Amino acid sequence: MAAELIDGKEIARKKQAHIGSEVQKLKAEGITPGLAVILAGNNQASRTYVKNKQKTCDKLGMNSMLIELPESVTEQELIRKINELNESEDIHGILVQLPLPSHINEKAIIEIISPDKDVDGFHPINIGRMMTAQDAFIPCTPAGIVEMLNSIGADISGKHVVVIGRSNIVGKPAGQLFLNEDATVTYCHSKTADLKEYTKRADILVAAAGKTKLITKDHVKNGAIVIDVGMNRNEEGKLCGDVDFEAVKHKAGFITPVPGGVGPMTITMLMHNTLKAAKLSIS
Ligand code: GUN
Repeated sequence: MAAELIDGKEIARKKQAHIGSEVQKLKAEGITPGLAVILAGNNQASRTYVKNKQKTCDKLGMNSMLIELPESVTEQELIRKINELNESEDIHGILVQLPLPSHINEKAIIEIISPDKDVDGFHPINIGRMMTAQDAFIPCTPAGIVEMLNSIGADISGKHVVVIGRSNIVGKPAGQLFLNEDATVTYCHSKTADLKEYTKRADILVAAAGKTKLITKDHVKNGAIVIDVGMNRNEEGKLCGDVDFEAVKHKAGFITPVPGGVGPMTITMLMHNTLKAAKLSIS
């Protein structure tokens, strides 16, 4: 039996429509949510992501500001810019696109962003709040995954969730979020011996390893929910995930496509966080 497709584009469209109407209400009170994005250097993939973030801001009636800095920018210059944005009344969310040029200490830069404007949810204060299940800005990709699961009515409590990948952006916070939802969580990563032994026991499998076709049908339990976070390019330059979609779709209960799965949800949750930051600024 073929798995049911989790249509990230459609779930994102509905969520964005709701965010858009909330933006209008806030505008009526004289507040237009504003997102500042800092892009340092010439990474082409980053440039594309940033353009999409700005386009979505426009679509939902939010302001966006792009700050482009050269590859040679110093840590001091970046810090000065972030401090300016921290002080700005028109900017509610600040996003520093990663990766930064290699001479910049990313962790130090993230810590300069005001936790109340940290729409990426990468600041240690927000991570700590999330760890202790307090209100926080939640990293966008993990938040988008949970939103997708809610939208298909998936029960997370008591389920075994296997997360492949331990990045600070996706894997680690995703596992934590699932733990907050009362799941039993297993983390796997590049050093995990016998990956299949773990993945075969997953009710919900989240693949965020960045490796094309890492997950075959032999890795998946019958009827499992498979969430593919991979954004890889195959030999022909086509976007593809970490999951061998054509093989796994016959075994999974639900599966996300790439493209059109997690990607649209990530950007949507950034808009959600920017709206939240704008509301926070008047509370
Ligand atoms: N680079 C890749 N993904 C992300 C993200 O979610 N936020 C930021 N700031 N940089 C990224």
